[in-house]
Parts: sequence; C-alpha cells; structure tokens
Amino acid sequence: MSVLLQVQGLAVAYGHIDAVKEVSFELNQGEITALVGANGAGKSTTLLALSGLLRPKAGTVHFDGENITGLASHEIVRRGIVQVAEGRAILTTLTVRENLDLGAYTRRDGAGVADSLERVYDLFPVLKERTRQYAGNLSGGEQQMLAIGRALMAKPRLLLLDEPSMGLAPLLVQEIFRTLVQINKDGLTILLVEQNVRQALKISAHGYVLETGHVVLADTGARLLVDPKVAEHYLGG
Ligand SMILES: Nc1ncnc2c1ncn2[C@@H]1O[C@H](COP(=O)(O)OP(=O)(O)OP(=O)(O)O)[C@@H](O)[C@H]1O
Ligand SMILES: [Mg+2]
Repeated sequence: MSVLLQVQGLAVAYGHIDAVKEVSFELNQGEITALVGANGAGKSTTLLALSGLLRPKAGTVHFDGENITGLASHEIVRRGIVQVAEGRAILTTLTVRENLDLGAYTRRDGAGVADSLERVYDLFPVLKERTRQYAGNLSGGEQQMLAIGRALMAKPRLLLLDEPSMGLAPLLVQEIFRTLVQINKDGLTILLVEQNVRQALKISAHGYVLETGHVVLADTGARLLVDPKVAEHYLGG
C-alpha cells in the first residue's frame, strides 16, 4: 500500500487562534480515510490547509512524495487535490451542465472530459435528467451530488470532502455514502470529514479522530467503529 499524502506536525492558526495544533496522518493510495471529531476540533481547517486555502503555520504536507507545503490553491488543484466545498458552493445561476464544465476548465484532454462527464451522469442519473436546469433549482441533495460531480470533472487524484451528508435526509445520506464507495472503487483516494461518524467509519479503510487540534486516535475504520472511546463520544451510545 503506497502513501499518497503525508501530513506531519501540521499547525494552522487564525490570527492568534490555534485551530490545528499538531496533526499528523497519512492517506494510502486508493483508500477512503475518515477524519472525524467534535465541532471545532479542526477538521475543516485541516482540509483548507491541504487545499492551499489556508497557509500552515508549521508542519509539512507531502503529496506523492513531493513537498507541497504552503503552495497556492491553484498549484495544489493542478497536482490533483480537489476539495468538494462545505455548503456545496455550486453556482446557482448556471445550469447543471455549466457547473460540471467548470469543474473541467483546466483540462485539455477533450475525450477524457467527455468520459468524466459520462461517469458523473452514471453516478448521478438525476444530474443527467436535469442537465439544462439552473443549479439553484436543485434540491439540497441534488446540489451536493452536483458539487461532487463538479469535483470529479477535474479528474482528481485525491478528493477532499467536508461533511457531504450535512443537512440531507437519511435516504440521501445513504446515497451519498454509496456513491463515495463507487467513486473509490474507480480508484480514487478520498479524505472524508464527517459528523456522521458511524457511516464514515463503515466505508473507510482508516480513520483519525481529532480533538482540539490534535489527533487522539488513529486506526482502521473497522477497529475505530468498535473502540469504546469512539462509541462513547461519537456514536451516540
Ligand atoms: N475563520 C475563523 N476565524 C477564527 N477562528 C476560526 C475560524 N474558523 C474556525 N475557527 C476556529 O478554529 C477551530 C477549528 O475550527 P474548524 O472549523 O476547523 O473545526 P471543525 O472540526 O471543522 O468543526 P465543525 O465540526 O463544527 O465543522 C474552532 O475553535 C473554530 O472556532
Ligand atoms: Mg467543519
């Protein structure tokens, strides 16, 4: 199993607020890895630092062996690390298809882009049905599918997701998790931040638990699911 992303001693601050204090973890190529923890633990801040939207105060990030610490976000996207934004961040006044095309705007491989579009429509048939509709007219679940679809159009090597199931009805939550499993089977490495800890650990090969800016537990998803500390604090009894 080769390591795709290695984070060592990451620290990120907002002014004098230390949001991420000392975070180290690894993502294996081809695996889903879950990053879980209570509100304010530093999960989103960690993702923003990996995406290059926040600059680390300390620590290093290596992607496929290359030191990418502190690179600008467009440099990081160019290397294949793509984040599906929290709150979806789709463009509501553009159509579904236009949103998907935007995801591919840096690509020059026209045939590859067409393949990606077909795969996105396979994964989310509802997007194909609504291809000409304004994204703002989609339901919350459909908008989340579109946000994931748009990220896939960039042909990422690593997909970062910040709470993709947030605010969705239980059936849609299931559908999103099922889709992540399918995308992963295509070979894509995924870092999944989730409040829905049980579901996230179920589909993850490995998981890390964050508390107040530190990694406090690291193990396989299966072992974390039966860990008494995880059960007590994160699985709601
Ligand atoms: N823009 C900001 N300015 C100042 N402090 C911030 C900012 N964003 C987050 N923080 C603080 O940084 C810490 C980590 O926040 P972060 O959003 O990374 O946590 P999280 O684990 O994603 O939480 P949640 O589960 O609520 O999304 C918290 O103490 C939070 O209050
Ligand atoms: Mg968050």
